[in-house]
Amino acid sequence: MMMIEICLFFFLHTGLVESRVEEELNALLARGNSHREVLENSYTPETLHHIALMEKKAATEVIITDSKQNIIISSSKIDKEEKKIVSKKIKNVPRDGEILEKQWRKEKYISTISPYSVNRQQNGYVYMFKNTDHVQSLISSLTRHFLFAAAITIILLIITILFLSKALTTPLIQMKRATEKLSKGDFSVQLPDRGDDELGELSRSITVLAQDLKHLKEERNEFLSSISHELRTPLTYIKGYADVARRKDIEEKDRDHYLNIIYEESDKLSAMMKDLFDLAKIDRNAFIINRTKVQLCSYVKTIHEKMLPAFKEKEMQLEIECNENIHGLIDPIRFEQVFFNLLDNAIKYSDPYTKTRIFVKEKDGDVLIKVEDEGHGIPEEDLPFIFERLYRVDKSRSRDLGGTGLGLSIVKELIEAHQGRIEVKSELGKGSTFLIWIKEAAE
Ligand SMILES: Nc1ncnc2c1ncn2[C@@H]1O[C@H](COP(=O)(O)OP(=O)(O)O)[C@@H](O)[C@H]1O
Ligand SMILES: [Mg+2]
Repeated sequence: MMMIEICLFFFLHTGLVESRVEEELNALLARGNSHREVLENSYTPETLHHIALMEKKAATEVIITDSKQNIIISSSKIDKEEKKIVSKKIKNVPRDGEILEKQWRKEKYISTISPYSVNRQQNGYVYMFKNTDHVQSLISSLTRHFLFAAAITIILLIITILFLSKALTTPLIQMKRATEKLSKGDFSVQLPDRGDDELGELSRSITVLAQDLKHLKEERNEFLSSISHELRTPLTYIKGYADVARRKDIEEKDRDHYLNIIYEESDKLSAMMKDLFDLAKIDRNAFIINRTKVQLCSYVKTIHEKMLPAFKEKEMQLEIECNENIHGLIDPIRFEQVFFNLLDNAIKYSDPYTKTRIFVKEKDGDVLIKVEDEGHGIPEEDLPFIFERLYRVDKSRSRDLGGTGLGLSIVKELIEAHQGRIEVKSELGKGSTFLIWIKEAAE
């Protein structure tokens, strides 16, 4: 900016000086021309005298010569420089005159010439002179003004730059401090609102990041405490029954019973471990989803085959309804777990002789998979939470049925890894419907 400023001042100054000198020269020429007019109107000794007298009082000087450049009259004593100019050879001077000397920097005078002609014998030249001291003092005062203005501009510029850089760096420093606090684990970050510019956006993003991290940390703590709680229950059973079973004085039949309970509880524990492990894998993104184009109808039929015995065991029905030419982009192995978890819930939370149906439909360019049961349903107030880890509507009932509360959260993570989404609709006592949207594979 300083460079631009200096260049601008330089060009402006040169331009102004040039036009100022030009003006002076033109004024001088115009004055010479007007003397010429007067002379041509009445060429008498009085007029000549009168012109010389007029110039004596002005800052300019005049010399009138005849056509051979012999001086007829002058307004003041002629000095060396003037003589030099007057004796210069001239030819073809235009009627409106011309500038003879414009080197105001090094010469003593600037001068112009205007030719006059009264009649054939009487013609010659009007020389006008102006001392360059006058021009020089004019220019140097202009330069002084310029230097003064430049100095003020530079000072203002420096103040503005200091102010601007302070205004820019202060929020950046604040944000840097905030992120340092974040990295140390202190999430109580408070950044002032900075409006809608880029800095404001950045500051808002940092605040959001801080809140997210805080939420994540709280969630993790909560999850850890509920996990340890979940693990404690089966372990208490196992420990308690193992203690009873190792007594010498109990009957073989009782011992078998206790060992069975221990076995079941360990089974639940290992199922839970498996679920947790799956979740951790999805979380770490160590979970590779190999999506391929799958003909969904026959895919669902194989699931139907696999799950049917479990439904039969509880005297329940499983039906499918689908359109042959719907293809989805899914990982067939991972997606099996989605169906397995949903159908497992349908069995667990329904009464015998009810029906569960799987629909595969095409909707607005997406594939909609519906799993609909006629089970107990989910209370409305629990609906927003059932996809959360370890959330169960009826804890003891689910535990008795071998549930961990992790099934639906795994389903949700799996579907999100497929870039799909899942929703649930349910009415207490009537049944539940799980709706899954995934991308359709092009034909
Ligand atoms: N089809 C369903 N019908 C009724 N309730 C269900 C159904 N599916 C899930 N739920 C409720 O949502 C809770 C969470 O399900 P899930 O994550 O699979 O855990 P769980 O291990 O208990 O099956 C269940 O405990 C149950 O209360
Ligand atoms: Mg389940």
